[in-house]
Amino acid sequence: MLKKRVPSPEIPRKEDVYAPGLPPAELPRPPLPLMGNQEESMTASSPQPNEKIRVLCVAGARPNFMKIAPLMHEFVRRADRFEPILVHTGQHYDQAMSDSFFKDLGIPEPDVNLGVGSGTHGHQPAQVLMKIEDLLIEREPHVVLVVGDVNSTIAATLAAIKLHIPVAHVESGLRSWDREMPEEVNRVLTDSVSHWLFTTEPSAEENLLREGIPREKIHFVGNVMIDTLLTHKARAQELDTLDRLGLEPGKYAVLTLHRPSNVDHAEQLAKLFEVLGRLNQEIPVVFPIHPRTAKAVADNMGGVTPDLHLTDPLGYLDFLRLLTDAQMVLTDSGGIQEETTALGVPCLTLRESTERPVTITEGTNEIVGTNPNDIDAAIQRLRSGPPREGKRPALWDGKAAVRIVDILERDVLATRKNEPGSA
Ligand code: UD1
Repeated sequence: MLKKRVPSPEIPRKEDVYAPGLPPAELPRPPLPLMGNQEESMTASSPQPNEKIRVLCVAGARPNFMKIAPLMHEFVRRADRFEPILVHTGQHYDQAMSDSFFKDLGIPEPDVNLGVGSGTHGHQPAQVLMKIEDLLIEREPHVVLVVGDVNSTIAATLAAIKLHIPVAHVESGLRSWDREMPEEVNRVLTDSVSHWLFTTEPSAEENLLREGIPREKIHFVGNVMIDTLLTHKARAQELDTLDRLGLEPGKYAVLTLHRPSNVDHAEQLAKLFEVLGRLNQEIPVVFPIHPRTAKAVADNMGGVTPDLHLTDPLGYLDFLRLLTDAQMVLTDSGGIQEETTALGVPCLTLRESTERPVTITEGTNEIVGTNPNDIDAAIQRLRSGPPREGKRPALWDGKAAVRIVDILERDVLATRKNEPGSA
């Protein structure tokens, strides 16, 4: 239900920006505040003539790796003009959550691994912040590039901006309007100080403008994660993943769950497992279990395993193969909502909101919330009705990384002072 519009609030009230169940597209719109420094410009040192543009690229957790891959490939392709420095913060660190992605996606070995590992929301970003600050002082990049919304994203951004190094944020402007999600806090803070804000869908630009970000900083470039998906789809299709897992195309569901709001409370997790276990009686529900969720099951549920087809976390190509022929996908992930839209596979999102409304308005995604009865009803609707039609959103065409690197090259080169003929 839409809430009544409040006349000209200066600061949006919580109930205006956080309305569980409402996609942001339907939220009441507070007016645009007049903020943001239109005159703001880059202050880090610009590359000298004949010097390459040093871009320090930061990746830390699993959903970062598929976003950084096409950007690294594009920087390497322009090696005559760019010197990329790849930093892995070590937020995710083992074979299943990190190494296999570098191998599957052909990402170059990181130049530096900060090895921060797991930690609380204080300790983990603090470790990244301290270690990356030293690295920035040592390497003197012209630009720091961050992707997504994980703890490594905000920590690297803070370190860079305090050293006056301009930050490029890829996947900017997404908002769930739920400040209880750690990722939402990371997004808002990263966007507020970034110099380039690269967006994946139109809602992101509206959100950024509403937060007072000057329009000229915002660039709608498309979706780097879909660059990666399109590059690897044919290769994934050749894998024997379904045979290995004993599945038939179109006759199984895929489940992922890792958000604290779903997995950190035993009662909520037990309810989800119960309703999903019922679906598993009808078709196999494949559940590659995230380490956070595995830990929650072991610690809080007496180790009783859910009645689902459990697997360890899968590599990128195996997971893409699995998504492609699923009858439906149930998830609380952000990225999977986009991947299913790009693949045209029905997706039920087990959250109260999404920061990716284009996957609902144009794609195959549906927000069903976390109430077991609602989830059950949505599953039955999907299984008995015609398949949900969707289309691939604008600029999700495999060329987002090229657009981003074009813009960085143009803007950074424009700051060179000493070239013959420059003012
Ligand atoms: C993080 C991101 C989230 C992203 C998710 C994808 C933040 C705030 N959250 O959540 O946005 O969707 O990654 O996976 O940054 N662990 C391992 N092996 C690993 C990495 C982690 O066992 O390689 C364990 C850790 O010990 C910890 C748990 O997984 O117990 C959670 O890791 P953490 O880095 O806190 O974040 P995620 O919950 O994975």
